[in-house]
Amino acid sequence: MNLADSELILGQLARSGYWRTDDPSAADLILVNTCAIREHAEERIHARLGQLTSRKLVRPDLRIGVTGCLAQHARERLLDSAPLLDFVIGPDAYRRLPEIVHGGPCVDVRLDRDEDYADIAPQRSVGVRAWITVMRGCNRFCAFCVVPYVRGRERSLPADAVIEQVQAAATQGFREVVFLGQTVNAYRHDKIDFGELLRRTNRVDGILRIRFTSPHPCDMTESVIDAMAECSKVCPHLHLPVQSGSTTVLERMGRGHSADEYVRLVEKLRANIPALAISTDLIVGFPGEKAEDFAATLDLVRTVRFDHAFMFKYSRREHTRAAKWAETVAEAEKGERLQELIGLQEHIGAEINAQLVGSEVEVLVEGVARRRNGDWAGKTPQFKTAVLSADHIAPGDLVTARIEKTTAHTLIASAI
Ligand code: 5AD
Ligand code: SF4
Repeated sequence: MNLADSELILGQLARSGYWRTDDPSAADLILVNTCAIREHAEERIHARLGQLTSRKLVRPDLRIGVTGCLAQHARERLLDSAPLLDFVIGPDAYRRLPEIVHGGPCVDVRLDRDEDYADIAPQRSVGVRAWITVMRGCNRFCAFCVVPYVRGRERSLPADAVIEQVQAAATQGFREVVFLGQTVNAYRHDKIDFGELLRRTNRVDGILRIRFTSPHPCDMTESVIDAMAECSKVCPHLHLPVQSGSTTVLERMGRGHSADEYVRLVEKLRANIPALAISTDLIVGFPGEKAEDFAATLDLVRTVRFDHAFMFKYSRREHTRAAKWAETVAEAEKGERLQELIGLQEHIGAEINAQLVGSEVEVLVEGVARRRNGDWAGKTPQFKTAVLSADHIAPGDLVTARIEKTTAHTLIASAI
């Protein structure tokens, strides 16, 4: 989401003559686009801002601003830790950037129920994958999560505006689109729901693959499941956050479903969408999480057998409902639970991948492999990273390859 917002900000600034440089010492304007989801993200920003604002001692005309969720969440702390900061701009105020960057010091963190930036063309980084924001904000207020407070209420872009962005991305040479939204499958504009948006996107020429993130289990309607099953370009991969395997914890989190309901939803998805890969988000150490609740999370992970998971220690966030509840799981215990969960998930992920050895996959090539000299890297439809040895291929190619070896996170393949 931040990457997509950065591209939106670049698009908006392009209107007033700014363009991107990768060399900070050449920049007239530096924006730090921030995340507030966990405390760790916040700590890193404060250190980074200290370094950046010290550049103003040698370049007094340099302008430095903070954008994004942390701007919304912690403007006082930001201004305290970096007094040389010129502006602090929340996620609903990017439209004003051109006037703000030319004006005096400014803080604008007002949230706007309607701002969808539908008319601003993002300036996308080159690559094969275009990130397209289809809805912004969230109405769910899960007890641990700061998003509804920093990004405001849910709003969806008009379907025509989304499809126009998809067509523009295809024309620019992108091969894949990823629809983004905090609860992306809650998308609805006029009578068009997320299933219908997928169907319309499936008809756009030039785009080979369609993905989206992150859906909420409660918004996984028949319409969305049918669209996933029927649309040939919609990839068989779903990142479906579950957060916990304990129904007691899920209730306190306010997730709106039980552990059982999640497992049944996964069964239904797998029955309808062949070869579906499922990944998830999990939190350990939520206030009140007992040993038996954590055991239920391990059980759910064993039952569902996720292809991949992002796993986090609970991090207390101001303003949220859970922020008022006592933390009952000690930091060391959180660490141990996290390690045990990661160990289990790595094992399962490795087993699932090992079963793929010998099979054929279609890889959308993205670029050169980071670790293996001369090899290429790309993703399979299931969003697994594949490393390929092949001649005469280029980013954007769809290559059929045979899997030779696997690890918990990577498939090693050779082109057929
Ligand atoms: N503490 C830990 N993890 C969190 N997430 C969101 N808020 C918190 C928090 N306060 C995780 C959730 C979510 C992912 C994007 O970040 O798992 O799905
Ligand atoms: Fe946060 Fe996602 Fe819950 Fe919204 S649905 S409050 S973004 S965890």
